[in-house]
Amino acid sequence: MSIMVLDILNLPSLTGAEERNNMRNRINYAEPYKIKMVEAIELKPAEYREKAIAEAGFNLFNLKAEDVYIDLLTDSGTGAMSNRQWASVFLGDESYAGAASYFKVKDAIKDIFGYNYLVLSHQGRAAENILMGSLVKPGQRVLNNMHFDTTEGHVLMNEALPVNLLRDEGFDTEFDAPFKGNMDLEKLEAELKVGAENGTVPFVMMTVTCNSNGGQPVSMKNIREAAEITHKYGLKFFFDAARYAENCYFIQQREKGYEDKSIKEIATEMFSYGDGATMSAKKDAIVNIGGFVAIKNDEDLYNMCTQRQIQYEGFRTYGGLAGRDMEAIAAGLYEGLNDDYLEDRIGQVKYLGDKLNEIGIPLQIPFGGHGVFINAKKLLPDIEQKYFPAQALTIELYKAGGIRGVELGTCAFGHTDSATGEEYYPELELVRLAIPRRVYTDRHMDVIVNTFADIVKNKSRIHKLKLVYAPTIMRHFTARFEEIV
Ligand code: F0G
Repeated sequence: MSIMVLDILNLPSLTGAEERNNMRNRINYAEPYKIKMVEAIELKPAEYREKAIAEAGFNLFNLKAEDVYIDLLTDSGTGAMSNRQWASVFLGDESYAGAASYFKVKDAIKDIFGYNYLVLSHQGRAAENILMGSLVKPGQRVLNNMHFDTTEGHVLMNEALPVNLLRDEGFDTEFDAPFKGNMDLEKLEAELKVGAENGTVPFVMMTVTCNSNGGQPVSMKNIREAAEITHKYGLKFFFDAARYAENCYFIQQREKGYEDKSIKEIATEMFSYGDGATMSAKKDAIVNIGGFVAIKNDEDLYNMCTQRQIQYEGFRTYGGLAGRDMEAIAAGLYEGLNDDYLEDRIGQVKYLGDKLNEIGIPLQIPFGGHGVFINAKKLLPDIEQKYFPAQALTIELYKAGGIRGVELGTCAFGHTDSATGEEYYPELELVRLAIPRRVYTDRHMDVIVNTFADIVKNKSRIHKLKLVYAPTIMRHFTARFEEIV
């Protein structure tokens, strides 16, 4: 013990760059925060977990959170707010009209995004409802690198078609490339040549980072070029900005010319290419609730969006949020841009990914910003897609370690064709372990890795699944299964 301490004391002094590199690789490193408040979690006994998951219809969404030990269902609204954010909560101005807290968010968005108009909403999908409801007409095609499921849902609800223009490599979980969220610009141009002319494309959207293919980033070059093409055809270019700060971090780390720029500078450049954004503040603004549409300078669009906002969310200056929520967003938008915070967050995802990789778990590479994605088809080759291998893995993860992940495979993205009765199977069969922001330590990550080691040794105990209930859209939230034993 004393020798170890001495070794540390004898470390040569490091340059700033070396220290940062150590941070990235978690050498002589700990989380850049200390814990002021704790929330107890408990690993319920194995027999209890068996019963709980059966009662939940083998769907992790139906579990009580208190029955979960490490909750990696989502990184959305599950982050830990800082002491500064909590302090700001007390400054919340709860006025119906003209609240000071609203102007703080508006100023932050003007400062970071460079956008003049703010349409607040209670979360990201509500912002999508406002934007899509204002702009999308039946029969149109909405273009995106890859729609998130609620985004896709809103396109469909407006009787339009969501079109994903991700480059082919973005679908290949084993292809190592720095920006697998990039849009295929040739496909974009081909769509616009037809769609801009005849009015069948309302706008183009870029999701940063691209959640649906694993939190993969989009390069600044791709964003700039996609926006240029979109503008050439006279259409607007929007961001789905839920994880924009994580995207900017990857640009700083991976794209030439950005290594010495601050995350904020990168963000401001990125948003300068667009005309607006929707954002779920529950991600990179590190708050438990909130979202918005931000619009660069189209006042007519702002007024149109406001109509729907007032109808569905609330008046312009609160949009479904309490003043205290708006305060937390204004503070969180800046915290989400902090270098140490992002280095730690994305470093923790990498830490988990590297350790899972060491024990042979097939993962999507490179690791995304907000979590690791496990290739369940590869890990469980004996379970055919019709028996829901990724869902089966999430069940086992809960049974083995009280860990809750989420299935992104046949349950989430498959469907039965209503005309032919034929089953459609998605290409990817993934389990996402989304890491909440500032919530778990590397020790929790170690427990996850140990649980996987146990699962690998005992694969034969994993059961195939049969779907016994499914709604027509977004079935993974409420589907129910039985185990085939
Ligand atoms: N866009 C993206 C890229 C998202 O990841 C999400 C939510 C939304 C929009 C919708 O935002 O939840 O505030 O209504 N993603 C969460 C997830 C739910 O778990 O990935 P919301």
